Amino acid sequence: MNFEILVNKNNLLSKDYKPKLYIVDDNKNNFHNYIDPNLKPKMALEIKSYVDKLLNDAWKSGMFIIVDSGYRSYEYQEKVLKSLIEKKGEEAYRLVALPGSSEHQTGLAMDIAYLKNGIYSDDVKDSDKEVEWMKKNSYKYGFILRYPKGKEEITGYDYEPWHYRFVGINLAKILYDQNITMEEYYSLKRKKA
Ligand code: DAL
Ligand code: ZN
Repeated sequence: MNFEILVNKNNLLSKDYKPKLYIVDDNKNNFHNYIDPNLKPKMALEIKSYVDKLLNDAWKSGMFIIVDSGYRSYEYQEKVLKSLIEKKGEEAYRLVALPGSSEHQTGLAMDIAYLKNGIYSDDVKDSDKEVEWMKKNSYKYGFILRYPKGKEEITGYDYEPWHYRFVGINLAKILYDQNITMEEYYSLKRKKA
């Protein structure tokens, strides 16, 4: 599996692309319950050890981070987008990817939520200590904050403090150190070639 795959509005996955998956946990309180009450967060099997380590270390540091939404199929993404268009109209396109263009279909992206005193919360804000922890540490486990503040025009999406993408430890460190997005990284790489 290519952990460095670029998926965005211009780089699409085929409709039937589906990685081998595993269920992250049995948390049923994820925010997509309104679409599928039986949905459990899944991620690509190949990155299980990285996800486990990140979550373990977060919990050890008192950050009760959980995976809220991981893998989403093409059809599922269609439902997510449709439901947001009904609520928000055009704005939905800055918040949710068109089917085929969502990193969630790779199984390498996760939206985080928390357990606060054991209670599920998907109210993930920039000022949260858990967000700070993720911003500072996630690259050590191969993850990056994929849609940062100030890079909205480059990524095509509003700032999402909850959306993390596994790219592997090498690339995560490069992106973290240089404070660049995947779009910028690939565009710089093309220029150098
Ligand atoms: N919210 C991100 C952009 C997605 O739907 O994949
Ligand atoms: Zn996401």
